[in-house]
Amino acid sequence: MKHDIQLTVNGIPRNLTVTADDTLLRVLREELHLTGAKKGCGEGECGACTIIMNGEAIRACLVLAVEANGADILTIEGITPPNGITRVQQAFIEADAVQCGFCTPGFVMALEAELRRNPRATAADLRNALGGHLCRCTGYEAILQVTETLATSATRPKNTKKRA
Ligand code: FES
Ligand code: FES
Repeated sequence: MKHDIQLTVNGIPRNLTVTADDTLLRVLREELHLTGAKKGCGEGECGACTIIMNGEAIRACLVLAVEANGADILTIEGITPPNGITRVQQAFIEADAVQCGFCTPGFVMALEAELRRNPRATAADLRNALGGHLCRCTGYEAILQVTETLATSATRPKNTKKRA
């Protein structure tokens, strides 16, 4: 049986017809061609499919599209400024925290959601936000460095420049 749903995805209203067992991840990737959210485990275990739904980081493989009806969805395509990158993305580059990159959008979205919720998040808050996110390449050290960098930049007074 088909269901008509309406989502706002990266600020754009979308009307979609889905089946009862379609996941939000499948709809984003295959109907809307937003492939930044990755399908890793498909069972909520790896975090690769993380997006922001109604302000919360969620695993899109665990949400049925019909359950998301009416939701405001942000994917990694929607957080990236047209001519630049976010500070979370910049921190990943500076820490050299990307190898194959498969897990990276999920990590970025989890950190983005936490920083939007709490702009003064500590490194511990940011590490907690990454609970259950798996990376098979980096060994996590560089990703933990990202949380330190973001926490430092979140708490530094605006006019204080970093010393060289
Ligand atoms: S693909 Fe969704 S948590 Fe792994
Ligand atoms: S960089 Fe390859 S899985 Fe994380």
